[in-house]
Amino acid sequence: MTDFYTAAPGETSPPVPAGPALCNGTDMRVVHSAFLWGYEQAPLLIRSTPAGDTGRSEFIGQWIGDLDATLHVHHHSEDELLWDRLEKRAPACALHVAQMRAHHAKVAELLDAITPLRTQWRASGDPTQGEALARAYEDLLAVLRVHLRREVVEIVPVAERVITQKEWDQLAEHSMGVIPKSRLLPQLGMLLANASPADRTEFVRAIPTPVRVLYKTVGRRQFAHQYRQLFPGKPVPATI
Ligand SMILES: [Fe+2]
Repeated sequence: MTDFYTAAPGETSPPVPAGPALCNGTDMRVVHSAFLWGYEQAPLLIRSTPAGDTGRSEFIGQWIGDLDATLHVHHHSEDELLWDRLEKRAPACALHVAQMRAHHAKVAELLDAITPLRTQWRASGDPTQGEALARAYEDLLAVLRVHLRREVVEIVPVAERVITQKEWDQLAEHSMGVIPKSRLLPQLGMLLANASPADRTEFVRAIPTPVRVLYKTVGRRQFAHQYRQLFPGKPVPATI
């Protein structure tokens, strides 16, 4: 995923303010890589659900629903805690921030359209509804492939110079709590599984010790169990 985070032809980055880094933005890349992986899987998981298998559609629907809720709150945290501060402290990146706000609005619109489709398919396992849902997720993924990449390439380097570590940590704290803890730990596994080895090492270093211990004692097993249910027969990727 690391090579993915580069500017495409014609894309420009805002100037990075001088001075030392005030925070470490590696976790943004880790989170975005997990979203991209998750939304690549979503259409495949939906289409591979046997017609009328409501046990399977319920399970897959919940997993994707959690992903949607996490994406929504991730964007909400940035809307609430990041954009205004960036505009004030690094005015030269205002145009890029405006673009991020516009991307978020588009993603919110797509998620709003997805929610009823997902709810219907989750209850019915109907393949026609499933196909409409799978296509809606493909449309979402197309937007995310641009937005999540550009946010890392264009915004994070500026944020690292003007946002304090305490403020940056508030973003993650603000995003917690949307998913019950029993399903939050497997999501942590998904973050770890999709990070590059270097990003994973840095990311793990920043996880509070109690959470790290909880993941190793309970979460890792929950992640493996969930992964086997999602992808029967596939080897469970390494985390920590
Ligand atoms: Fe983000």
